[in-house]
Amino acid sequence: MNISVIGTGYVGLPAGAGLAKHGHQVTCVDIDEDKVEKINNGECPIFEKGLPELLDEVVSEGKLEATTDTKTAVKNADIVLLAVGTPMDEEGNINLDYIKQASEDVAEGMKERNGYQTIVVKSTVVPGTTENEVIPILEQSGKKAGEDFGICMNPEFLREGTALNDFLEPDRIVIGELDEKSGEQLEKMYSNFNAPIMRTGLKEAELIKYASNSILATKISFINEVGNLCKELGIDVYEVADGVGMDHRVKRDFLDSGAGFGGSCFPKDVRALIKFMEENKVEPRILQSVIDVNVDQKTKLVEQLEQHYPDLTDKKVAVLGLSFKPGTDDIRKSPAIPIIQELKDKGAKVKAYDPKAIENMKQKHPDIQYTSNYKKALENTDAGLIVTDWPEFNSISRKDLKTMKRPLLLEGRRMEYDLDEEDTAGITWP
Ligand SMILES: NC(=O)c1ccc[n+]([C@@H]2O[C@H](COP(=O)([O-])OP(=O)(O)OC[C@H]3O[C@@H](n4cnc5c(N)ncnc54)[C@H](O)[C@@H]3O)[C@@H](O)[C@H]2O)c1
Repeated sequence: MNISVIGTGYVGLPAGAGLAKHGHQVTCVDIDEDKVEKINNGECPIFEKGLPELLDEVVSEGKLEATTDTKTAVKNADIVLLAVGTPMDEEGNINLDYIKQASEDVAEGMKERNGYQTIVVKSTVVPGTTENEVIPILEQSGKKAGEDFGICMNPEFLREGTALNDFLEPDRIVIGELDEKSGEQLEKMYSNFNAPIMRTGLKEAELIKYASNSILATKISFINEVGNLCKELGIDVYEVADGVGMDHRVKRDFLDSGAGFGGSCFPKDVRALIKFMEENKVEPRILQSVIDVNVDQKTKLVEQLEQHYPDLTDKKVAVLGLSFKPGTDDIRKSPAIPIIQELKDKGAKVKAYDPKAIENMKQKHPDIQYTSNYKKALENTDAGLIVTDWPEFNSISRKDLKTMKRPLLLEGRRMEYDLDEEDTAGITWP
């Protein structure tokens, strides 16, 4: 099939490359000319495991190309996937500006299309958006949804860091459809995928995405609250989580306690669902607590640091890990952002290191020192904070700690290095 993906970011690019791998002819569209040029040269504009290799392969085989020309890409497509960002506005509401603009661009291309095609909302949007916002804009093409063109809502569940693999091997594919014909065409796109397909309505598909992210975020805040109790009791929250997670009704996943969740999805999606519930007169009691616990959790490491140094003025502190999780260069809502801010506000001198995310963090915190490896970050500091559990930090040795003014590592993430207990402390474990 001819498939055009509008928006070539952390979702659109792995999806486009994955679909090309499955034999489709893919056009990736973006307004960012730099990105488009890189993709056409076979270069990957984001850090994501396996993606550079696959991109190089599908571009050189002519199965994937990138363009800024939405109109032509839409005209030629059997299926158009809308994968632009849906960020949060200042009040926590979902910002639909990009999806509306992209829908307008798509409508222009639809005017020139001869024959049926299906437009698919892949971006995360609150229930009713596809029906009430996207369809009316697409119908400005003069065509009618459910008659002249198909429309589906197909939420994406991939995780950054394992995006390509998650896209190619999902637990399930959810197809929200306006009518049967729309859903059938999208199901054809996934015919080479080995995953159960659930066909449902548009609003149901939209809510499945929010409810899925919200329950995962809830598990994290829950185990962090239990972890805060463990810290008081001097016991290890990971042993508790292992014991709880052996129950198949609960599962061990997402019970890793630490410095809280970040990223471009959980914080914004939980907040958007809270706002949407309020608009619909449902009090979001659980979800509000999920956010509150998470906000406090992010700066707990600094509180723990202050137990060692009540005055942080001029204390040198290494921050290890800046991306919101390992395996990505994405720093959106990363716990490292408020942690560095808090350290700066309290007068500390910050040295920071991350294997992939330094350039992105420089946009947020240009005024701290960045180092080229973790050893240099730790040198001559009063303490180190581990904020992202990049595997390389497991190699931190006693020798590295000797280069510090005082050997003290506070872990916001559980590490597996072999260090003396008195030199390390966990955020929610001894
Ligand atoms: N990042 C994730 O892990 C993830 C996972 C599942 C779902 N989602 C959802 O998928 C959607 C996309 O997220 P993302 O992280 O890929 O966003 P992103 O910001 O990485 O990428 C969006 C891309 O869209 C482009 N764009 C914006 N307007 C455009 C237009 N009119 N035409 C063409 N391109 C345009 C931008 O230049 C950018 O490259 C969001 O709704 C998000 O909530 C994200």
